[in-house]
Amino acid sequence: MMERADFAEKPLLLGQKTILRPFGPGDAERMMRILAESEVRRLTGSAANDEEASAPMSADEEERIKSWYAGRNDQSDRLDLAVADRESGELVGEVVFNEYDENAGSVNFRILIGSAGRGKGLGTEAVPLFLKYGFEKLGLHRITLEVFSFNPRAERVYVKSGFVLEGVKREDFRYNGEYVDTKIYGMLRSDYERIAGSE
Ligand SMILES: CC(C)(COP(=O)(O)OP(=O)(O)OC[C@H]1O[C@@H](n2cnc3c(N)ncnc32)[C@H](O)[C@@H]1OP(=O)(O)O)[C@@H](O)C(=O)NCCC(=O)NCCS
Repeated sequence: MMERADFAEKPLLLGQKTILRPFGPGDAERMMRILAESEVRRLTGSAANDEEASAPMSADEEERIKSWYAGRNDQSDRLDLAVADRESGELVGEVVFNEYDENAGSVNFRILIGSAGRGKGLGTEAVPLFLKYGFEKLGLHRITLEVFSFNPRAERVYVKSGFVLEGVKREDFRYNGEYVDTKIYGMLRSDYERIAGSE
């Protein structure tokens, strides 16, 4: 059996343009604004159409999000880190390892960056920084992700980071009444070691 990954530690990971850090007080308000962005809702599958994507958040949902972020540092089976723009210090999004399978040493990976941080190379830096932590410090064997076929920007960042296309769930999602494929990408420790070794 593989040694259990230590998700209880919430590290600070420093890049050139980004800082990945534990969530702190005040971050929930900012994350709430990011999660309310219609593009974020559309690309993360939190809305099924434009109307839902641009609907205001209910008070209940806001409360749920506040308590969600207040509890991120207490999780021992997953890692949620804030992504901050190093230049401005501003919180722009998050990276997550969840759905840990201890036996296989695998996790699911998610990232989202709000409009203030997008298209500036922050994702290109944050993804490999987080993967490095996953493979080198957490000792993971496999990292999986899913991305909609209407999100080529995210796909580009994943492929640049070394993820390998493993399959397509055809017409797995529906947005504005149109079916959309979900692509499955994966990265194994051996993929990571090959990339790290060639740098
Ligand atoms: C996906 C995401 C993390 C990428 O981070 P980012 O900081 O915006 O991305 P970067 O600026 O580092 O890089 C974007 C890359 O995509 C490319 N790109 C942008 N739009 C593109 C498009 N329509 N088609 C193909 N490539 C595109 C850019 O040219 C750049 O690649 P390059 O550096 O090789 O030129 C971020 O945009 C995001 O969170 N978006 C909203 C939520 C989301 O999509 N989450 C992922 C769900 S699976």
